[in-house]
Amino acid sequence: MKFFLDTANIEKIKRFADMGLVDGVTTNPSLIAKEDRDFESVIKEITQIVDGPVSAEVLSTNSEGMIQEALKLSELHENIVIKIPMTKDGIKATHVLANKGVKVNMTLIFSPAQALLAAKAGARFISPFVGRLDDISHDGMELIAVTREILDNYDFDCEIIVASIRHPLHVVEAARMGADIATIPPGVMEKLFKHPLTDIGLERFLSDWKNAFGK
Ligand code: E4P
Repeated sequence: MKFFLDTANIEKIKRFADMGLVDGVTTNPSLIAKEDRDFESVIKEITQIVDGPVSAEVLSTNSEGMIQEALKLSELHENIVIKIPMTKDGIKATHVLANKGVKVNMTLIFSPAQALLAAKAGARFISPFVGRLDDISHDGMELIAVTREILDNYDFDCEIIVASIRHPLHVVEAARMGADIATIPPGVMEKLFKHPLTDIGLERFLSDWKNAFGK
């Protein structure tokens, strides 16, 4: 399973990339806005740190505008993947861009039908949002299970990015379901490391050693 980091924060990306845990990065307009920096320069800097897909989202809502933005963003680096929202215009833009060899990550997917449309249009990645579904009392992980089943029935060249992850269990369940990728916020990545018995165990090993050998 691949881990993407769901952030535009350079320090956090570096921290986990140094541990070999970052196969790619996803950003969105909200994440870029948090960094208070020029969009293109942040994206370029991320491509210098991570050798894998880096998603950059378009702001246009009509297909022509999406395509123009996508082509411009694609010139920044070969690893740029264009994030396009799941709308009719988004589907049209995805179809055109896929035919030009531009990789698209179709975002804001909340149903299996939307996932299927995105894969058919030629999206290289699809991003079902699990946390936002959980927030409105729908089962986000059920969407991943059904999407996995649908993609496994055919030979779409399309990977599932589990997005809108809120806690470690989302990551574990995504792995159990065979999702290709989880895009993980840095705060959740921190939590993946933690288990109280690991801390207690290490403390005990060190104190037993100190008691026996005095150092
Ligand atoms: C990533 O591709 C998505 O934009 C992101 O995971 C959305 O997460 P949120 O629902 O926590 O904003």
